[in-house]
Amino acid sequence: MGCGGHDVTHVLRIVNMEPQIREVVPGFDHYEYRAAAWFHNADRSPDFMNPVQVPKVGERMGEPEHWRFSQSFEVAVRKLLEESPFDCDARDRIVDAAVHHGKKHDSLTDSVLLQALRLADKWDRLGVMGTNAGGAFYGAYLLPYNPESPFGVSSTAEGGMSTLYHNFFRILEWYAMSEGIRILVERHPERMRIFLAVVRAWGEEIASGHGIQNEVEQDIRNALGLHYDAWKPS
Ligand SMILES: [Fe+2]
Repeated sequence: MGCGGHDVTHVLRIVNMEPQIREVVPGFDHYEYRAAAWFHNADRSPDFMNPVQVPKVGERMGEPEHWRFSQSFEVAVRKLLEESPFDCDARDRIVDAAVHHGKKHDSLTDSVLLQALRLADKWDRLGVMGTNAGGAFYGAYLLPYNPESPFGVSSTAEGGMSTLYHNFFRILEWYAMSEGIRILVERHPERMRIFLAVVRAWGEEIASGHGIQNEVEQDIRNALGLHYDAWKPS
């Protein structure tokens, strides 16, 4: 719960945004949502990231076929739910949502609770707090940008990013991928405007700091794809 970017403030914001999420993904249980939200980023605990327990940590956040999770995380969440008033089905939904919240792609078999938690987890990143989350989580071991080649984004996989700059585009891609995110942005466009303003400011500072051409707009265009025109500079 103390892991930067996945800390208690992130969890509290997810808990508090339940009404917004419910407008887009209705039908989940209030208490199951709160339980899943509180448990979900315990997966960042060093105990659960132990390479002995998680042999393929590097593949952990990749495509579904590479999906690997720490059994110890699932066991721990189930253990914590043992004394709870949730019935077996509710416990299964909570565990499933907590364990799978970080997967990249939606699935037709995702429960409403999992959809809600995944949407909330992403929505919390698309704003000024989200611009800070990458630095809080990766800042100890990733450069802000590659001084030899700052622009261009080759990978936005969680284990594949080599700079903090890349993490901005991992978040922006969610806008293109997720209809739920686009609905929330439509209702709260200031969050997207702030996020893009920060990314563009990074591009300007990098370019001026190194005396090179600013190519941030091309990276934004690539991340937003068909949705870029709505957000291009006026
Ligand atoms: Fe999270």
